[in-house]
Amino acid sequence: MRFRQHGPSLVVQAPAKLNLFLEVLGKRPDGYHELETVMVSIGLHDTLRFEPDASGGISLSCQPAGEPAAGRGEPTPSLSTGSDNLICRAAAALKESTGCSQGARIALTKRIPMEAGLGGGSSDAAATLVALNRLWSLDLPSTELHQIAAGLGSDLNFFIDSPALAVCRGRGEQIEPVPLGRPLHLVVVRPREGLSTAAVFREWQSQASPRSSAQLLEMLKRGDLGQAGTALHNALQTPAEELSEQVRNTLRAIGSMESVGAAMSGSGTACFAICRNGASAHRIGARLRAQGLGRVFVVSTGL
Ligand code: C5P
Repeated sequence: MRFRQHGPSLVVQAPAKLNLFLEVLGKRPDGYHELETVMVSIGLHDTLRFEPDASGGISLSCQPAGEPAAGRGEPTPSLSTGSDNLICRAAAALKESTGCSQGARIALTKRIPMEAGLGGGSSDAAATLVALNRLWSLDLPSTELHQIAAGLGSDLNFFIDSPALAVCRGRGEQIEPVPLGRPLHLVVVRPREGLSTAAVFREWQSQASPRSSAQLLEMLKRGDLGQAGTALHNALQTPAEELSEQVRNTLRAIGSMESVGAAMSGSGTACFAICRNGASAHRIGARLRAQGLGRVFVVSTGL
């Protein structure tokens, strides 16, 4: 997450994430699933501008960023700017837990595709907690921001600190940052259709022996890309492939490129390839764009 002060406003870049590994360990009594997942922040971000509002209210406006070259007019799911938006819910939760009576006008520029498994909504909401904590001079410690974040969704906690690389457990809210040996060059493809996270989890079926992320983490720490590419894993990939032909086609296309490895992110539908270097990522990105599968982003880890 990056901050810039513009007079009384605060401008924040809220990054997307990719899951390089995601194992579902079982279904919990609360209806959520117990996870072990490895996430990286990537240089694809939404921008949020926060301005103080003396009325004490919270208002949100949203505009899409300029369409990328391969936009190809796919339908964008509509984003509510009402009180049900996770950004507004985060602002309300912060007010509620601190008794703060201040308000904010929030303007969101949306670049991260929705229903993609890239964590855009969670990142925007986490950015809101961190930014309003500053804008309103609340000085809440990070532990309290994390508590509020966990109450709002499973992915927000990762974005509160946006580490380059972390292993996340529980329902995704327990974060352990891990050093990343070298930056990763990636191509991300978001097929034209999205999938709901809850629908993909419902389709998941328990496997006999869950996998561990230990080996992948060791390779990422060492910067051993070739080996890391072979250790990518996502237990939600098969359920998402069952639900979406576009995920199947995208994985087939991305898997045929000369990358070090490819997988789906989170509950999909975005899929990614780790590439040997930046030049290779641009070449693979151009070839995938030409296939018209959906939106294609060439990115690196970090923000
Ligand atoms: O926590 P979040 O609101 O992002 O989760 C969206 C939905 O995804 C949940 O309502 C649940 O159906 C599913 N989910 C799950 N187990 C997790 C995370 C999410 O079943 N660990």
